[in-house]
Amino acid sequence: MPDDSTDTTATAGQRITALAAGHPWVAEARPAPGGVLLVTPHPSATAVLPAPGPLVREHLAHWAEVYEWVYETGEGRHADDLDLSGWRASDTGEPLPAAHMRDWVDRTVDLVLAQRPRRLLELGCGTGLLAHRLSPRLDGYVGTDLTDVAVDRLDAARLPRAAFVRAAAHEAEAPAVRQAMDRVFGPGVRPDCVLLNSVTPCFPDLAYLAAFLHSALTTVEDGGTVIVGDIRHAALLEDHFGRVERARDPEAADPDIAARVASAVAEDRELSFAPAAVHRILADHPRTVRMSVHARTMAYDSELTRYRYDLVLHVGPAPSDPSGVRQSAWQGHAGEQLPALLHAALSPGPVVLHSIPNALLTDVPDAVTPHDLRQALNGADAAVLLDAGNPRMLAVAAPARWAPAAAHAPVRAPVGRLAHEPLPAFVRRRLPEVLRDHVRRAEPGAVMPRIVVNDVPAGAVR
Ligand SMILES: C[S@@+](CC[C@H](N)C(=O)[O-])C[C@H]1O[C@@H](n2cnc3c(N)ncnc32)[C@H](O)[C@@H]1O
Repeated sequence: MPDDSTDTTATAGQRITALAAGHPWVAEARPAPGGVLLVTPHPSATAVLPAPGPLVREHLAHWAEVYEWVYETGEGRHADDLDLSGWRASDTGEPLPAAHMRDWVDRTVDLVLAQRPRRLLELGCGTGLLAHRLSPRLDGYVGTDLTDVAVDRLDAARLPRAAFVRAAAHEAEAPAVRQAMDRVFGPGVRPDCVLLNSVTPCFPDLAYLAAFLHSALTTVEDGGTVIVGDIRHAALLEDHFGRVERARDPEAADPDIAARVASAVAEDRELSFAPAAVHRILADHPRTVRMSVHARTMAYDSELTRYRYDLVLHVGPAPSDPSGVRQSAWQGHAGEQLPALLHAALSPGPVVLHSIPNALLTDVPDAVTPHDLRQALNGADAAVLLDAGNPRMLAVAAPARWAPAAAHAPVRAPVGRLAHEPLPAFVRRRLPEVLRDHVRRAEPGAVMPRIVVNDVPAGAVR
């Protein structure tokens, strides 16, 4: 005689499998050894185009909730134009020093103004650290953010020749953004600069980054720029978590630290990528785009100075042939003579001086910090960059407009990880929750198997 209770359990298991398999976010569900229900997400649930799928929308909504909470709490609000809420050091959890954050903002303002914009569209503008400082210097400013609280606050600030709307970073071409630009820039007039600063960590994956880049590059006027600031460098993730873990546990053995770093990298919930990932995306873009990769040159040594960088994407052909730019490996050294050595190495221009060891990331003799270089340049027409082949090295281009020519430095394959994408881990956490709720609505009291998500299909980088 078959055992009735076993039959009922088997039937319940089959019903649960069928319910999971029928969920629109699931491509396949099947039982696997160990009482596990193995589910494969439907590609449309994790796609970014033509419109973000439901799991991508949930990822965006998660970050919107985080920032709604951060801005509403306002624990780091110094003034209406200086809300530093959320800016904390990863190792101590303490707020980053306000003077450092002012330097951080000022360096971004410098980078943006160096591109000589008149009409700026900022995506992910937050509470307006940049909008407050940039908009008085421009003919028009349109800002967007995922959070109502940021948009409402900036609306209430009544900045002249500015408008703010709720929209996501991939929506530069959305009607609400276009209407705001029509009001501020004039009907149909394009921005000559699209800015996205410190927002890519909230992106789900490279496919979303690609969607944002294509839409921003399509929106901006010929000869304009797309500036992507404060990017976490994927090739420096181990350095970042190594420093965090060592600060937390100075006495731990090296192998223990290495194991903790590996798991911190795997579980990291923010997007990081190397400039090479953007090169790949740009290869598919129909417009001519030249890219320069800028070092952060703040005085204070923090994770924002060490492990982050800015990209400037120049839309349109080079003013003249970049192969005429002299490429020279740095032979100088640190110390008091740095200004004179740098001055000598930079003439005659145009020149890219590469392979300069970054003292924040290497302990080789004669390494210099990005801040040392900025100070030594003393306002000269030059840009402090990341070396094209090695994220632990720096470069200087002079005059600054030749910064994209640094990419032509003697070709050395970029070292290290191309990207860390948080979406797959998000889907592994979130999809089982959604399926458990879905099954329990149909089968109240069902004993749920452990749901494990099979590989998330990689988002197609457009
Ligand atoms: C760290 S703050 C940066 C704010 C501002 N850009 C700055 O540099 O001060 C990140 C902001 O990005 C917004 N954000 C996150 N994901 C976004 C997305 N996909 N599209 C648009 N805004 C986003 C958040 O709401 C938050 O206001």
